[in-house]
Amino acid sequence: MSNLLSYFKSSIGKKQIVAVTGLMLILFIVGHLAGNLIFYLGPEAFNKYAKKLSDLRPGFYVVEFGLLVVFVVHMTLTASIVLENIKSRTVNYNVKKSSNQRSLSTRLMPFTGTILIAFVVWHLLDFTFTDKHGDASVLQDGMSYGLYGVVYNAFTDPIHSGLYIIAMFSLGFHLNHGIQSFAQTFGFSSPTYTPLIKNISQWTAIVITLSFSSIPVYVLIQFLSS
Ligand code: HEM
Repeated sequence: MSNLLSYFKSSIGKKQIVAVTGLMLILFIVGHLAGNLIFYLGPEAFNKYAKKLSDLRPGFYVVEFGLLVVFVVHMTLTASIVLENIKSRTVNYNVKKSSNQRSLSTRLMPFTGTILIAFVVWHLLDFTFTDKHGDASVLQDGMSYGLYGVVYNAFTDPIHSGLYIIAMFSLGFHLNHGIQSFAQTFGFSSPTYTPLIKNISQWTAIVITLSFSSIPVYVLIQFLSS
């Protein structure tokens, strides 16, 4: 038991837990993206998918609670590592890498992380804890389109869409650093693996960012040209 406690408190233990919880969050994001892309198949398909998910409740609440725990653990331990690094840097100030040795994604980590926390809270209020059959779900023809209508209406506002796209780019930068950090934590860095991992992380980040962002862009184009 005391071994387990010292693992959680150790720097390597924290880094490994942050890496594993980060990987779990990436898996959620990939699954969520796949579900979101059903939006392109129209209201019927998208609402059917949302209903299938909600029909999995109450069992699904366990998964959702698990996701919340993973998110909170990831955030808290990351904050703890950052604080430890700041403390150790004030002692070993000559060890700190100059900022141009660190990639843009790395330098942006505190900002992208904060933006993502704010985004998730806003996003849940936006689409999860909302009336999916009220006025917000009604499209131009005066009919209610359920969750599809809620999402569509939200993205007809360029500011709303713009803020989502900023959050998606933050996610991309965060993932790019996160995947490389995961590999480093588990010792995959070598002259052969490092460039490959860099490539994988960059392409994963680009594909995820552009795929999520395509939804608000698609709605805006459709709305403005209708
Ligand atoms: C254009 C981008 C996105 C769209 C259109 C979108 C859409 C949605 C919708 C419609 C729901 C509600 C599902 C329901 O209540 O049935 C939802 C839930 C959620 N989304 Fe997103 N999402 C997007 C991006 C993201 C991103 C990038 C994240 C994470 C960083 C995220 C995290 C979540 C979470 C945690 C939930 C709650 C899941 C649950 O209740 O089980 N979403 N999203």
